[in-house]
Amino acid sequence: MRSLDDLLAEGVSGRRVLLRADLNVPLDKQTGAITDDGRIRASLPTLQALRDAGARVVVAAHLGRPKGAPDPRYSLAPVAARLGELLGTDVPLASDVAGEDARGKAAALGDGDVLLLENVRFEAAETSKDDAERGELADRLAALADVYVDDAFGAVHRKHASVYDVARRLPHAAGRLVATELDVLTRLTSDPDRPYVVVLGGSKVSDKLAVIEALLPKVDRLLVGGGMCFTFLAAQGHGVGTSLLEADQVDTCRRLLAEAGERIVLPLDVVCAPEFSADTETTVVPVEQIPGDQMGLDVGPRTVEAFGGELAGARTVFWNGPMGVFELGPFQAGTRGVAEAVAAVDGLSVVGGGDSAAAVRQLGLDEASYGHISTGGGASLEYLEGRELPGLAVLAD
Ligand code: 3PG
Repeated sequence: MRSLDDLLAEGVSGRRVLLRADLNVPLDKQTGAITDDGRIRASLPTLQALRDAGARVVVAAHLGRPKGAPDPRYSLAPVAARLGELLGTDVPLASDVAGEDARGKAAALGDGDVLLLENVRFEAAETSKDDAERGELADRLAALADVYVDDAFGAVHRKHASVYDVARRLPHAAGRLVATELDVLTRLTSDPDRPYVVVLGGSKVSDKLAVIEALLPKVDRLLVGGGMCFTFLAAQGHGVGTSLLEADQVDTCRRLLAEAGERIVLPLDVVCAPEFSADTETTVVPVEQIPGDQMGLDVGPRTVEAFGGELAGARTVFWNGPMGVFELGPFQAGTRGVAEAVAAVDGLSVVGGGDSAAAVRQLGLDEASYGHISTGGGASLEYLEGRELPGLAVLAD
């Protein structure tokens, strides 16, 4: 895989570089303002290195999951503005992905200038399963530049036109963020220092089953919190009230618990409420006593202590997914407690996934106390599952 430094050594001054970045940041539902700009900041080292070397940079990125047509709610306009602030330069936004406006603006770039294309998912071809449809868009994207750099680590698991097909049409290299992420994930997968503890949270157990299966033989402990823990608790025979439950996954969770023995550690207590609201009345109950008319929205203090105990001795930790609905004040303590315990790990600590990374920043925790905060959610998990990621495979060609 060619690195950015290989490309810079070749010289990029005056050349147009198509840079795929993952600028998929969370937006406030009411105001549309960016609530966490971590992914934009993570893209800066590659962008700045290209600008310093005199490249004319055309950035392609997606935001959210629009339905293959322009939709103002998913415009990259706020991202262009924030990118411009962080780079200290004007970053114009093309009004299309790879149409007339993009072509005109890309042609007008001077050395060191940056152009952001509109959300690549405004074109249905970006995510199409049809190779020819994606190929047509990839041709138009490739025509905007002389060389392609992929720095969108969070999207490398997607076989999309701007991630996969365009790399087959242009000389290509991996950006600095992709290189850093790969370096860390390799340390997790090849001979990690032990004990190796993985903490998984987030809402859906079905999204995490593949990674749980893949990790179980490798980890010393797998701590499970978040909405997904209730399907495991149900598999243990507990009533979970109105908590999130994926009934069709209970049998699988039961099998995993039987196979894993004490390696899977589940919550001991949960914070319950009658409804999903910041103003609701909360109670902490042991997992054996979740009331039938209440839902668990965070792990409780005894769980934080128990998880903290497992993490205290760990030498390698990977954490993906919040322990509860940390966006709502009454349900923050579990995620905060686990985040603090991960930060205190004496060894390699990796936070993976947009939500957990956002939690670290939104809870005001010190990012520097983690070994690495990954920008990739699905991408990191699929890497840990041992799957081939199309965006990486194509860079290696
Ligand atoms: C992410 O948020 O994990 C990446 O930006 C990929 O987004 P996607 O899951 O919508 O493809």
